[in-house]
Amino acid sequence: MLSPTYLFVLLLPALCGATPMRRSMQVHEARADLPSGYTLTGPASPQTVLTLRLALAQNNITGLVDTLYDVSTPSSANYGAYLSKEKIEEYIAPTEESSSAVNAWLTENDLQSTSLSAAGDWISVQMPASTANNLFNADFSVFTHSSTGAQVVRTLAYSVPTDLAGHIDLVYPTVSFPSPVADVPQAATSLSAPQLTADNNTDPCNISLITPACLQWLYDIPTTPATSPNNSMAVPGYATEWPQEAYLKSFLEQYRPDIDPDTTWELVTLDGGSDPQGSNSTSVEGNLDMQWTIGLATNVTVKFISVSNVTIPDGDEFAEYLIDTATYMLGLDSPPTVMPTSYGVNEESVSEKLAQKLCSSYAALGARGVSVLFGSGDGGVSGIQYETCTTFVPTFPGVCPYLTSVGGTWLVPETAANFSGGGFSNVFDRPSYQEDAVAGYLDYLGDTNSGLYNASGRAYPDVAAYSVHFDVIYGGAQGPINGTSCAGPTFASVISLLNDKLIAAGRPVLGFLNPWLYSSASSALTDITVGDNYACSGSTTGFNATTGWDAVTGLGTPNYTKLKAVLDL
Ligand SMILES: *[C@@H]1O[C@H](CO)[C@@H](O)[C@H](O)[C@H]1NC(C)=O
Ligand SMILES: *[C@@H]1O[C@H](CO)[C@@H](O)[C@H](O)[C@H]1NC(C)=O
Ligand SMILES: *[C@@H]1O[C@H](CO)[C@@H](O)[C@H](O)[C@H]1NC(C)=O
Ligand SMILES: *[C@@H]1O[C@H](CO)[C@@H](O)[C@H](O)[C@H]1NC(C)=O
Ligand SMILES: *[C@@H]1O[C@H](CO)[C@@H](O)[C@H](O)[C@H]1NC(C)=O
Ligand SMILES: *[C@@H]1O[C@H](CO)[C@@H](O)[C@H](O)[C@H]1NC(C)=O
Ligand SMILES: *[C@@H]1O[C@H](CO)[C@@H](O)[C@H](O)[C@H]1NC(C)=O
Ligand SMILES: *[C@@H]1O[C@H](CO)[C@@H](O)[C@H](O)[C@H]1NC(C)=O
Ligand SMILES: *[C@@H]1O[C@H](CO)[C@@H](O)[C@H](O)[C@H]1NC(C)=O
Ligand SMILES: *[C@@H]1O[C@H](CO)[C@@H](O)[C@H](O)[C@H]1NC(C)=O
Ligand SMILES: *[C@@H]1O[C@H](CO)[C@@H](O)[C@H](O)[C@H]1NC(C)=O
Ligand SMILES: *[C@@H]1O[C@H](CO)[C@@H](O)[C@H](O)[C@H]1NC(C)=O
Repeated sequence: MLSPTYLFVLLLPALCGATPMRRSMQVHEARADLPSGYTLTGPASPQTVLTLRLALAQNNITGLVDTLYDVSTPSSANYGAYLSKEKIEEYIAPTEESSSAVNAWLTENDLQSTSLSAAGDWISVQMPASTANNLFNADFSVFTHSSTGAQVVRTLAYSVPTDLAGHIDLVYPTVSFPSPVADVPQAATSLSAPQLTADNNTDPCNISLITPACLQWLYDIPTTPATSPNNSMAVPGYATEWPQEAYLKSFLEQYRPDIDPDTTWELVTLDGGSDPQGSNSTSVEGNLDMQWTIGLATNVTVKFISVSNVTIPDGDEFAEYLIDTATYMLGLDSPPTVMPTSYGVNEESVSEKLAQKLCSSYAALGARGVSVLFGSGDGGVSGIQYETCTTFVPTFPGVCPYLTSVGGTWLVPETAANFSGGGFSNVFDRPSYQEDAVAGYLDYLGDTNSGLYNASGRAYPDVAAYSVHFDVIYGGAQGPINGTSCAGPTFASVISLLNDKLIAAGRPVLGFLNPWLYSSASSALTDITVGDNYACSGSTTGFNATTGWDAVTGLGTPNYTKLKAVLDL
């Protein structure tokens, strides 16, 4: 998308053909400051072709969210009555009025859009930067990240015609900047193992190296194969995190000799994604995600969604990958029933309108019966990774109320892992399903950390799972890995095995988990009450784990047998 050299000479905007009637414009999105790390390099070359995506206002998002709760709340008469693809599209499609008003405006400007989604809520339109600057009263410029050198074309503000403001949710990419650090797991090879006692080395767990057998013991996860067809799990992989079949085979031979060692995943590719085999792939995340879903969710089909072939940080467009993954899932007649994702960014790097739009696509997936899970991040209260901060930095998408955010634990008995992301959103209000649980925690906190977090925001994580010293085979190496990237696939595998039992009993799958987790299922989770999470480096402290919900480990870690019992299975 970028031209190899950037022009710094001032060129007059190219006006061609009849000048369309100038409409009255209003600012649609703007940001006051550049995100930290970015500097302005100069204007985008006028000829640079931008591919802009327009999110058209959706028909009935309020109705969609009401419907989501109606089908996801155990006490509701419609619990489990998930909606078809077509029914969901009635909620998320733009109105005829929005589509035609926006398309008429584009046509008036000699532009043509193509639809990017089955529902028609995302359209794409290409134009030179000079045209985009005119059309949106924007100032598309090149920004460079100081530590990575990555360059992106963005604008700090843009406008849309006043009469179209209600028809366009947002234009992307504009004011949201790629986060230079994505949530990638940490190798823990240099770690000096903590002092172990006989209690800590409870067979089959050796906390220096976590294996599937350990978690099967810790969470009562069965080894018996799932039997239901159509019960699959989707695992997205971004930015060339490409898993290797040979590594999975070694992992299964070593840890799951009862599983066919040739078991593999089904590959789905989006945006130039790929998964070449035979390379000595040093990808930790991709291999971790495949080894620990296929290795725990015995005989559940796993689909690997490989999105993009661009390596972080060379122009990584994480938000775009999230949009395209959700659009792909919403376009399926029978989507996988569980989707754990081990990537995230700091909430502040995503514009509020984009965060809302993405979050509504997770609401749509939930209403279809898909359990969407995200790791809560590896920086405690300081964001995706341990960073300096003056106020606490929430992570996205974990702050979206329509998905399940998974934090991290370690040790036996379990305590909070200090990197476990947790806190409160500055964008999303606290949903009612967690009101009671979080109110108790706010009472416990009292004045602690007051002013550093937003007490009215959606609180996360919802639950947690083990996250330290997971054995992963990658890049010809093998060794312990830390991160909430370990927790998401673990919790998701438990849900997937419960779904298998539900399907076998002729019942609906669990879908959007939170209303269930915070009500009937909470007694089947193991409350983690010890430990705390990273502070902003320097003077502040993070959050403590404590009795009941907390902003480090949520409601706690799973016990399959107990969860199965609350489902009367
Ligand atoms: C929006 O959806 C709700 C819930 O299904 C429904 O009651 C309402 O009539 C819908 N509103 C519109 C304008 O379609
Ligand atoms: C992995 O986690 C352990 C336990 O929290 C910690 O001691 C170690 O420093 C971590 N390693 C990395 C690379 O973060
Ligand atoms: C635990 O795992 C570590 C690392 O693989 C190994 O060195 C140690 O011998 C193991 N301990 C036991 C008791 O198996
Ligand atoms: C899980 O729950 C079952 C049933 O209540 C119980 O027997 C088992 O000890 C629990 N497992 C753990 C590790 O707490
Ligand atoms: C695995 O599941 C499939 C259905 O998806 C079933 O046909 C097969 O028998 C199962 N395999 C085992 C070992 O149970
Ligand atoms: C399984 O999926 C196929 C298509 O993906 C669908 O036709 C079939 O009805 C599904 N079966 C069940 C039991 O849901
Ligand atoms: C990445 O994917 C894009 C789109 O499919 C393609 O044009 C490009 O050649 C690919 N680049 C590499 C390095 O594979
Ligand atoms: C070992 O177990 C004891 C007792 O359960 C616990 O207090 C201690 O924190 C554990 N230590 C480690 C390193 O897991
Ligand atoms: C997190 O915990 C590990 C293990 O106890 C410790 O080595 C590490 O220093 C801690 N990190 C911070 C920033 O407190
Ligand atoms: C706090 O969160 C709410 C959403 O619950 C948001 O509307 C408000 O702007 C946030 N306040 C700050 C200072 O970010
Ligand atoms: C958090 O835990 C620490 C250490 O146990 C304790 O000193 C502190 O008072 C706790 N914070 C709150 C809010 O209770
Ligand atoms: C793969 O890479 C690792 C380290 O990066 C190296 O030790 C190993 O020999 C390589 N294996 C192969 C088959 O090239």
